[in-house]
Amino acid sequence: MATFRIKRFNPEKQPEPYYEEFQLDIPPAATLLDCMNQIKWTLDGSLTYRMSCRSAICGSCAVKSNGHALLACQRQAEHLVDDNDTITLEPLGNMKPIKDLVVDFTPFWDKVNKVKPYLQPKEAPPEKERHQSQEAFLVIDDASTCIMCGACYSDCNTLEVDDNFLGPAALAKAQRFVGDSRDSQTLERVKELSEPGGIWDCTHCGECSERCPKPARPFERIKEIMTVALEQGVHNNTGARHALSFFNSVKRSGNLNENRIPVESMGIFNIPGLLSLLPIGVRMFLKGKVPPVIHHSIEEVDDVKRIFKELDQ
Ligand code: FES
Repeated sequence: MATFRIKRFNPEKQPEPYYEEFQLDIPPAATLLDCMNQIKWTLDGSLTYRMSCRSAICGSCAVKSNGHALLACQRQAEHLVDDNDTITLEPLGNMKPIKDLVVDFTPFWDKVNKVKPYLQPKEAPPEKERHQSQEAFLVIDDASTCIMCGACYSDCNTLEVDDNFLGPAALAKAQRFVGDSRDSQTLERVKELSEPGGIWDCTHCGECSERCPKPARPFERIKEIMTVALEQGVHNNTGARHALSFFNSVKRSGNLNENRIPVESMGIFNIPGLLSLLPIGVRMFLKGKVPPVIHHSIEEVDDVKRIFKELDQ
C-alpha cells in the first residue's frame, strides 16, 4: 500500500494548485502509469494526464515523480516508493500546467521547429532512397531515438532561468541533422545554433541525459554540435571563444589562466563586452579573489603537453 501524492490543478474550479493523496495497493509489477490508471478508474475519474502507447514509444506519459521527470509507463511503481511509502507526482517542469499533470508543450514544439528538424538534402531526390553508410548512420543513431517526451526539457537547469534557451530536446534533434551525411546545411545550422540561446548556453550539468528515457542523451548531442561548430570555424561567439581559450590555456600551462579566459571569451576587441566585466572584477578584487597576475605552469606541464600531442596525432 502506498500513498500517491498528486499535484492537482484545475483553473476552472480553483486558481491555485494543491496536492491530493490517494491510497493504492500497488499490484505486482505494475508500472507507475498502471497505478495512475487505477486511481483514475477506481478513485477519481477527474484526474487528468496524458498517455497513449503504454510502451515507452509515444512519449506522452512523461511526468515528474519524486522531483524528477520520467516516463510513467516505463517505470515500476514499487521502485519509486520513498521512505515514507509515498510517490509524489507533479507535472513536467519548465512548461505551464494546463490541468493536473498535463502541461502546455507549445514552447517546446516552437523550439523544435526553430532548429529546422528536417533534411535539407545535398542533391535532388534520387529515384529510390538516399543511401547512407552504417558508419554515417551511427553518428545520428542515438539522436534518432528521441521520442520528444519532454523529460529533458522539464529538468533542464538552464531553462529554469532562461526561457530563450532552445533546450536539450531541440538541440538533440538539431544534432540529428547537423550530423546527417545527406544534409547540405551543416555550416548554416551550426552558425544558427551558436547564436544566444543555442549550444553555448548549455551549462553542462548533464541533467538532461540523466532524465532521458532513451539513448538520445541530449547533453552528449549538444557536445557533438559544439565540436562540429568548432571544426567548421564558427568561433565568433563568446561560447566558442571560451572553449578555445580554456583549451589553449590548459595546453600551454596545464592550468587555467583565469585572468586571460574571461578577456579572450569576451573577445579582445569587444570593448563594451570587456567593460561589462569590470564590475565583477572590482567585486573579486574587494573580496580578495583576483587570480595571481603572473600565470604559472603546473610542474607536470610536459606530461600535459604530451597528452595534447598524442590527441592531435
Ligand atoms: S504512454 Fe507512450 S511513452 Fe508512456
